[in-house]
Amino acid sequence: MTSPRLEAEYADPTPLQVRIDTHRKYSEKPDDPGADVLAAVELTGTEHLADIGCGDARFLAGLAARGHRGPLVGLDTSPAMVAAAAAIPGVQAVLADAEQIPFEDNSFDVITARHMLYHVPDPRAALAEFRRTAKPGGAVAVVVNHPDACPRTAELVAAHAGSYGITTAEAFTATVDSDTLPAMMTDIFGTIRIHRSDNALVFDAAAPLIRFAEALFSFYGVMPDHPRRQAILTDMSEDIEDWFTHHPGQSWRDPKGYIVASAAT
Ligand SMILES: C[S@@+](CC[C@H](N)C(=O)[O-])C[C@H]1O[C@@H](n2cnc3c(N)ncnc32)[C@H](O)[C@@H]1O
Repeated sequence: MTSPRLEAEYADPTPLQVRIDTHRKYSEKPDDPGADVLAAVELTGTEHLADIGCGDARFLAGLAARGHRGPLVGLDTSPAMVAAAAAIPGVQAVLADAEQIPFEDNSFDVITARHMLYHVPDPRAALAEFRRTAKPGGAVAVVVNHPDACPRTAELVAAHAGSYGITTAEAFTATVDSDTLPAMMTDIFGTIRIHRSDNALVFDAAAPLIRFAEALFSFYGVMPDHPRRQAILTDMSEDIEDWFTHHPGQSWRDPKGYIVASAAT
């Protein structure tokens, strides 16, 4: 079950796309979780693959573009994301919850769940669904962030939201992270493999940091229709611009990272 908060956050693909583009362009080291997932699952191109929490479906579009011949499924709870998946020729787009995957047992050769499990209220239930719907001899790969990823930007957004009375109680809390996922996956799948990526976002100018911080607003309770959203954005933008003015030649560096945990089924 998703919350009204998550539904609002993913009703429009734009903030997600801003975050993805920011990680691609402003990471200190190359940042490509999709490539790390592909390295973990070693596709031959014929697999029946389900991408759970597929988002704007660029991962599935990439697979289709490189000639994947097996059936591709994009499943998400957001109608906007499902529409994006449906627009890719050959992709079966499914509006559903990871905790209740509407497929038979042993349906998929490969299941990927990239940067989505931390939104699921009961991540163990979703992992059990991955186990149930994956065929014996298949593979599952899950990507989650490190706890406390991008702490500086998170603190900045939380502080500006707080100055308008939006408390941290309204902030999004991850249900699983790179510290807790390995034990959860081991319980369900047995032996797992971990690929770890430690990185940072690095901004040399205010504009891309402002864009990224705004794309985090919903996670800190500043919803798209919040009456003070524009005022919060204006204050935060001034604060970020001041920081760059008072730190000439310096970068805003914010540590982050993720793991890809994969298992044979
Ligand atoms: C951070 S985005 C990641 C999207 C994509 N996997 C990527 O890495 O670009 C999280 C996605 O998970 C979806 N989502 C959240 N909770 C879900 C659930 N319980 N079941 C399926 N999808 C969910 C959201 O709608 C959103 O599209």
